[in-house]
Amino acid sequence: MARELMNAVQYSSYGGGPDGLQHVEVPVPTPNKDEVLLKIEAASLNPFDWKVQKGMVRPFFLPSSLTYLVIADVVGDVIEVGSRIKNFKPGDKVVAMVNPISMLPGSVDSWEFLNHVKHTQLGIFPIGSDIGTYGLDMAPLELQASSEPVYNGVNSDRTAEGEQVMISLASTIVVGVVAKNGGGLAEFAVTKGSLTVARPPELSADKFVGLPVAGLTAHQALTQSAGIKLDGSGTKSNILITAASGGVGHYAVQLAKLGNAHVTATCGARNIELVKGLGADEVIDYRTPDGAALRSPSGKKYDTVIRCATGIPWSTFERNLSSNGKVIDISPGPSSLFTFALKKLTFSKKQLVPLILIPKDENLRYLVNLVKEGKLKTVIDSKYPMDKVKDAWAKIIDGHATGKIVVEN
Ligand SMILES: NC(=O)c1ccc[n+]([C@@H]2O[C@H](COP(=O)([O-])OP(=O)(O)OC[C@H]3O[C@@H](n4cnc5c(N)ncnc54)[C@H](OP(=O)(O)O)[C@@H]3O)[C@@H](O)[C@H]2O)c1
Repeated sequence: MARELMNAVQYSSYGGGPDGLQHVEVPVPTPNKDEVLLKIEAASLNPFDWKVQKGMVRPFFLPSSLTYLVIADVVGDVIEVGSRIKNFKPGDKVVAMVNPISMLPGSVDSWEFLNHVKHTQLGIFPIGSDIGTYGLDMAPLELQASSEPVYNGVNSDRTAEGEQVMISLASTIVVGVVAKNGGGLAEFAVTKGSLTVARPPELSADKFVGLPVAGLTAHQALTQSAGIKLDGSGTKSNILITAASGGVGHYAVQLAKLGNAHVTATCGARNIELVKGLGADEVIDYRTPDGAALRSPSGKKYDTVIRCATGIPWSTFERNLSSNGKVIDISPGPSSLFTFALKKLTFSKKQLVPLILIPKDENLRYLVNLVKEGKLKTVIDSKYPMDKVKDAWAKIIDGHATGKIVVEN
């Protein structure tokens, strides 16, 4: 059935920065059985969004050209639900994640899946290969001739003619992304019911809009990677959070304090009072010699570092770690993957742990509840209307946001 058109923002090739964004009209997406159609109230930007546009994550899973409707974090109202959705109804206010990147190894009805996508652009390639070499036009037939098992994190019934589907295959690990008719910079978007969470209607949308990517990353880093119990029942540990004034960092400080940690934080001088206000026990200006050296003012060694700032070498972290200290690297690049492997192979007690967000609705619900109880707050750097989206994009690229950048419909 032909759907009405909506306004959206997309880019159609890598690069171009803010000027690469285009205002377009595209069909309002149709929710599949396990999806929800949302009228978007606001979306928040993450560095990942411009990194995808710039092609920085392309060697892993994105094809040589793409039309992508950007942005994962949204808040909005439910308009329509798929037949399997029982917990939402039109009018519900929610926070959700659009187009999650899946890294969920597991068997699927692979040939059925491929049949579903036969009209779409499809790229399939070993992880780490140059995707441009393989291109988008590889026929499903060739894929069916493959003797490799196909795994993916995308339900076969989520795909339909006209969607873009990219899959990468490496024996048992697949990273896939479904770029359905919409991201968060649009009037409407579909989200998986499993990554959509009700929010209290009496609280404003901007209290929740940063939770899906930044909030969940902070939560995963502290709970899953660092083993911190957020009810405070674990042993007290010393945590360093770098870039504590950023999207992930400002949530991480607040969550670490709920976990009864002693928190040292780094940020620029202008944000020191803000970060103290979020609960940090000690705050260092990263542009001072002590800040650059990550030296705790009280001389503490860190049991865990949540590494939100890029560009700091492992050697700087290593000399500040306690004997079993870990660095949770939320922006893992080639050098940190090398350090990760080296530390594992040499049985080092000091470890680097790369993190890629695996979003879970139970964790998003947990964060929504914390906001409702007044235990977690979202700092808003700035808000832009959709017609000023290029300014918002320039701001996130700049890398100096304090908290979250929001684009409103
Ligand atoms: N692995 C994943 O799944 C995942 C998920 C989410 C985010 N990430 C990555 O995590 C990183 C942080 O994300 P974000 O959303 O928190 O970024 P962000 O909001 O853009 O961070 C901006 C903040 O970082 C501060 N900052 C920059 N360099 C710093 C340094 N050397 N020391 C201390 N503070 C510094 C800035 O302060 P000033 O303005 O004072 O310079 C600014 O307040 C990004 O690289 C992002 O791509 C990864």
